Amino acid sequence: MSICFDESRGTVHLTNGRISYVMQLLDGRYLLHRYFGPALRRWRGTGVPQPAKRSYTTEYGDTHLYFDALPWEFPVAGRGDYRRPAFSVTGPSGTPVSELLFQGWRVLDKKPGSDTLPVTFAAPGESETLAVDCVDAVSGAALTLYYTIFADADVIARRQRVTNPGTRPLCLTSLQSVSLQLPAGSYDLLTLYGCHAREAQQSRAPLHQGVQAVGSRYGSSSPRHQPFWAVLDPAATETAGSVYSCMLVYSGNFNAVVEQDAFGAVRAQMGLGDESFTWTLAPGETFETPEALLTYSGQGFNGMSHSFHTVLRRHMLPPRWQGVPRPVLLNSWEGMYYDVSLEKIETQARLAKELGMELFVLDDGWFRKGNDSRSSMGDWTCNTAKLPGGIEAAADLVHGLGLKFGLWFEPEAVSRESDLYRAHPDWILQVPGLDPREGRHEYLLDLSRAEVRRYLLDVLHRYLGTGKIDYIKWDMNRPLTDAASAALPAHRQGEVPHRYVLGLYEILREITQSYPQVLFEGCSSGGARLDAGMLAYFAQNWTSDNTDARDRTDIQAGFSLLYPPEVLGAHVSITPNHQTGRTTPLETRFAVARLFNLGYELDLTRCTPEERAAIAAQVATAKAQRNWLMQGTFWRHPVTRPGDRMTSVVSADQSCCLAVIFRTLYDPLGEQAAFQFCGLDPAREYRDAATGEIYGGDELMEAGLTLPPCKQDFAAHSVLLCAEEETEYGHSTADQ
Ligand code: DGJ
Repeated sequence: MSICFDESRGTVHLTNGRISYVMQLLDGRYLLHRYFGPALRRWRGTGVPQPAKRSYTTEYGDTHLYFDALPWEFPVAGRGDYRRPAFSVTGPSGTPVSELLFQGWRVLDKKPGSDTLPVTFAAPGESETLAVDCVDAVSGAALTLYYTIFADADVIARRQRVTNPGTRPLCLTSLQSVSLQLPAGSYDLLTLYGCHAREAQQSRAPLHQGVQAVGSRYGSSSPRHQPFWAVLDPAATETAGSVYSCMLVYSGNFNAVVEQDAFGAVRAQMGLGDESFTWTLAPGETFETPEALLTYSGQGFNGMSHSFHTVLRRHMLPPRWQGVPRPVLLNSWEGMYYDVSLEKIETQARLAKELGMELFVLDDGWFRKGNDSRSSMGDWTCNTAKLPGGIEAAADLVHGLGLKFGLWFEPEAVSRESDLYRAHPDWILQVPGLDPREGRHEYLLDLSRAEVRRYLLDVLHRYLGTGKIDYIKWDMNRPLTDAASAALPAHRQGEVPHRYVLGLYEILREITQSYPQVLFEGCSSGGARLDAGMLAYFAQNWTSDNTDARDRTDIQAGFSLLYPPEVLGAHVSITPNHQTGRTTPLETRFAVARLFNLGYELDLTRCTPEERAAIAAQVATAKAQRNWLMQGTFWRHPVTRPGDRMTSVVSADQSCCLAVIFRTLYDPLGEQAAFQFCGLDPAREYRDAATGEIYGGDELMEAGLTLPPCKQDFAAHSVLLCAEEETEYGHSTADQ
């Protein structure tokens, strides 16, 4: 890992031996992007386009360089570059035109943290950070660009800080976390879109001239699009090809914009700044952007995922939960919905314990006056008609049965029918003179207000302070509307969406730091706020309310592009499935969940004795394998038949592999497909735990493995391979 300056060329080169990132000064004034890709020993500019005359555009002196074609590292508006700026600010002069001038660059002793935003962290020696200082000659804003390169992950972390050193306010309307220039060429663009119960679907299309954008105005990051883009070689696959990608470490509104110009060059950005964002910087104030994680992979999407998984596992997840096996849980939602009672909890928790589960999570319903979503949100008082003795009695009951106890909250919302709303109608986000919109009979609390945050923290401390809660499921089911705060002046109303997220992070920081032993699960109507920022607090996340095994294969594959499998909750539920009505075998439901953060979500009394025995075996197997699974390398495998999906985890030392092959429909007349493994050691011998057969890693990866015919739709086949000489994991065919 190094950050090297070449003064004669005016360049800086960041590399970790696998990737390189290069910038160059133009006449000591302007910062250009020169290279991002596989590691270079040194950069001499061999690939830089030669100056060539272009007519009728904005020329840079007599150099045959043009402002609208230069690869600006951090572009601004109004000075001859007509593509999307990364920074828009208006100062005392009133013009949005900027002239960003380089001031200096320096290598920092350590990676800078943040008091307000989640950012990646690194111990000394694990990363190096470059800071580039610039000034906007028009507004006077002082801007510092940060670049962190990691030793163990092929990721460049990017963020910006802007300060107002003047005596008059500045108004920011856009400040991107990253702006990446890619050379002219043919590319595809991959993004992830979705909706409730169909999250993280993959959209891949050729990039074309013009702007292609996704984003969020929902107040939270990802009800419709993940804060992510990948710009790739059109031939790239799961296992091969160049992929440039970026995710934002942020849980609110964002813009992800990719622009291909008339000459084929690409500018790809991610950050804050659309009509829902303005920020006033008073004299002396500083604003910092969320962090963005940029990665380059030469090994297709799997290479990209491995970089993201590594950086999130080691530099983002709460250290207390890094590499720590998660308990196998039973969640009450699909089994009880709102109709919870101590009797039901006792019955379910007793059965869960018998089947080997470790945690009982009491979902929604415990505080509601009725059995629906119409009331009580915000009051957070247990309904003792449902649970005599309150939450403490429920927790004691569950603990007495030998399980940990988890509790659901949705702290950010308030019901119209609640004492809290009646007492503090001004605590919600609302525009004076308009009826605030309702969503699920709820309003959103104004988390930009300190007294609202204090109220929520007091509620959470009241419950967590008892020491009887081992786990919190933190839900958020209410998209942002009426984003106006009674506590902010008119010129700061455009700050509300971002201030909401900053307020949320402040609450999460205090509560997760106060109770590090408590495991927090993030949720937002499923995966509507599943992003890298949330991972700083939530070591696991509810991926989707859709628990149907077939649909889950798509949803989990989409999320696995970005997030490591152990943070993605995957539950075995009842059939017919509550969301799709589909019936799939119990074995399939387990197989589809087993590589992820496994849980169960069903009424166990409705299972037959045979099903309960099967669940007990599944739980035992999952517990035996979870240590290496949760630290292993996750692979999505290319398959030849539409409707098939193969995923696997290979242990860090390549001695074990668990693959799951899902086939939507049985095809009696089709060719038998061979499923190729990934990430094995080609020189080692692997025993198939089910058959006892021994195969070479090379053959399994090159020729693949065919499966015994299975006359069933929605069938899933698990293959456990253990390196012959390795016995330390003690796997046997029983593990299947
Ligand atoms: C939405 C979540 O995604 C579900 O898992 C469940 O917790 C409900 N909310 C409860 O209201």
